Amino acid sequence: MHDPLRRPAVVTRVSELIGATPLFELCRTENDSRLLLKLEQFNPTGTAKIRMARQMVLDAEHRGRLRPGGRIIESTSGNTGLGLAVVAAERGYGFTAVVDRHACAGKLRGMKALGAELVYVAEEGNEELATAAREELAARMARESPGAFFTEQHDNPANAAGYHPVARELDAALDGRIDVLVGAVGTGGGLCGTGRALRATVPDVRIVGVEPKGSIAFGGPAHEYYQSGTGTPEGASIGALVDFDLIDEGVKVGDVEAFATARVVARRTGLLIGGSAGGVVYEALTRLASLPPGATMVALVNDGGEKYMDTVFDDDWMHARGLVAPEVEREIEETLMKFRRTF
Ligand SMILES: Cc1ncc(COP(=O)(O)O)c(C=O)c1O
Repeated sequence: MHDPLRRPAVVTRVSELIGATPLFELCRTENDSRLLLKLEQFNPTGTAKIRMARQMVLDAEHRGRLRPGGRIIESTSGNTGLGLAVVAAERGYGFTAVVDRHACAGKLRGMKALGAELVYVAEEGNEELATAAREELAARMARESPGAFFTEQHDNPANAAGYHPVARELDAALDGRIDVLVGAVGTGGGLCGTGRALRATVPDVRIVGVEPKGSIAFGGPAHEYYQSGTGTPEGASIGALVDFDLIDEGVKVGDVEAFATARVVARRTGLLIGGSAGGVVYEALTRLASLPPGATMVALVNDGGEKYMDTVFDDDWMHARGLVAPEVEREIEETLMKFRRTF
């Protein structure tokens, strides 16, 4: 039997490498409270989202919605699409990803390399986030193509269920001692799926959701943002998986702070995290000093920084969008290094 808490020694399918991701202690305070990062970039495709991609496909097969030779259709900013492309390749399905040009070019190239068909909703040069248009087109294509199934990640309970193993991994690794869970909220599947399952064994865990400033799940005002894959932009509907009863606090972090955190963490620790994870870690760092003695806070890192070399880690791209703020980076660096213990 496959044990989700351990990587098998030898595998025959890429999806068997999903899970059992490591915890990285980023900070520890003088009173022994600590910030641990759950490094989901150690999954195949470099992101947490392959967990839910596999679950959505298995669930669709189970319910008879996907049959041999069928086609999976999804609207994606890239990470879900990478996961679906892997699972589709393994299980013999076609996969169509409906995308916009706000998505990272590397994620789009990755999907293509894995055999996905890409359908764009925007002309070349138009880099706007177009979640609503993507979803509309994906739904229409699925209606009009026999044998096709729209996985509909924003409303699919299998998305959240795909993250229940994250809770089991955390619980096992930390022996149930986890006080705060912080994570990004896009569809809500990652944080709410993990959080719901964790509450079953750790009822008092505090759950903090982070979305980009400009995103609308935790209120307005709406405006453009550059954190990729996360949040709910204006015009898109808040996904059914964003479980407001579960989330104790919903907060917003701006692109400047999120990206500055990712850049500082990379320089000072050697760990590359993505832009949305930068927002999550920024929020976690601001809470560190007020944790009670001996407390453990876990931040969910959705993906690694490798996918963002042309954006978050590119000085020209950052300058052109007014996202460089040396004083913010300095402040983050001070907090990080105050609580960083590596010896
Ligand atoms: C980089 C990144 N961060 C955060 C999220 C949000 O995760 P969720 O949709 O599980 O809320 C996603 C989802 O695609 C993502 O790709």
